Amino acid sequence: MTKSPGPSFLCLLACLSCADLAPYRRDSGRFAALDLRRESPTRLGARGAVQSMADDGARQVVLTDDGPWIIRGQTIERAQGQRHWLKAALIPAADGAGTWAVAIDADGHLCRLRPGVDPEDVGARYGLEHEQIADVATAGGRLVALLLKDAYAIADGARVTRYPAQGVRAVTGGGTRVAVRFDERVDVIDGLLPTAQNPHGTPRGRSFRMKAPTAVALTARGQLFVAAGSALYRENSSGGLSLIYLSAGAPGLTSVVAAGFALWFADGTTLGHVEDGSTALTTAPALAPTSRLLGAGDGRVWALAGGQVTLLATNRESSSAADWDNGLGAVFTRACSECHLPGGRSDVDLSSASAWAARRDEIRERVLVKHTMPPAGRALSEDDAAAVRSWTHEAQRFHP
Ligand code: HEC
Repeated sequence: MTKSPGPSFLCLLACLSCADLAPYRRDSGRFAALDLRRESPTRLGARGAVQSMADDGARQVVLTDDGPWIIRGQTIERAQGQRHWLKAALIPAADGAGTWAVAIDADGHLCRLRPGVDPEDVGARYGLEHEQIADVATAGGRLVALLLKDAYAIADGARVTRYPAQGVRAVTGGGTRVAVRFDERVDVIDGLLPTAQNPHGTPRGRSFRMKAPTAVALTARGQLFVAAGSALYRENSSGGLSLIYLSAGAPGLTSVVAAGFALWFADGTTLGHVEDGSTALTTAPALAPTSRLLGAGDGRVWALAGGQVTLLATNRESSSAADWDNGLGAVFTRACSECHLPGGRSDVDLSSASAWAARRDEIRERVLVKHTMPPAGRALSEDDAAAVRSWTHEAQRFHP
């Protein structure tokens, strides 16, 4: 494990006072109506009250008061390990082979969950055997961010770097970046993976000073959102934060999560969705007042309240966007984002439905015929290969 004083930080200020706030208010009438679809939820049925869960678009880990469950397609299996779990995640395996279903227990152990096998403490596999782990998040490719006590760590598949960070509250990741929340600022670390402009992958930090940030989220494309009380900010093209939404009053934004390329937020019983620069809101109450949101890798969102979960999605019409939502976007995040984000190492941007549609033949050739993508040593999982295969077949049916 490498220790590091952390990347050097460029400081920026989030500025509220200089803006005219009226257009951003929930009641401004400026926001589009969110057309919401309630999907038939898990078949968890009577398997216990849900405490938390994670969904990467291919698999779900559900922590219930009756133990952990792992769901993949039509298969639902109970994992070993009846104890008090706080948080579940699906993270790139420390040995580089696929994805691990993990959970963190009340003592700060990061454990791999499997059916029929006792939970395996995998902290040591990330070089963190003597640390209490409080949270874990994926950041695209093989990047994993871990929250420790007054520190955080970033694993990139080859090494783990530990950054001391007094007073750190939360870490999150997405689009090959990591965001770290403190009481009076949010730090974002870029350059964790090599790109054409940064061939050695030298981390660079950026610090946003602000009063009491309450949530941070990074989408699969690496777009940063920060909530502070009733205000929601989005990173703009000049690297600052712009206000995009103000809730009408207490309790403010209670849950803000990234899901694939989108952002979801709970404003009381109203559900909000931000994607491609536009914000939409439900017009009728859509959430229980105590709902907690959990983003799914395919862009949908889980609302958890009173031990029950509901899966929600936007109604999409265009078939390529729908394919992207139905799993290809999540395949991209897991298997391609490390090199194919805009400005990424390969110089080929594959981070959208339209980019995939435009390169359909090359993708089929490289991924399914010649097996040269992803590059050697990073084989696609069977599920991900099947998703790409069915997308090329579907696409052929529409555009033979
Ligand atoms: C570790 C880095 C890496 C990963 C992961 C990766 N690629 Fe690539 N990819 C590259 C590089 C570098 C190139 C450009 C050089 C080349 O063509 O081989 C490339 C080129 C391509 C091309 C050719 C584009 C063109 O028009 O020339 C396609 C298609 C492609 N990748 C698809 C994918 C898909 C789909 C995935 C995920 C399933 C993926 N790649 C994962 C590094 C990567």
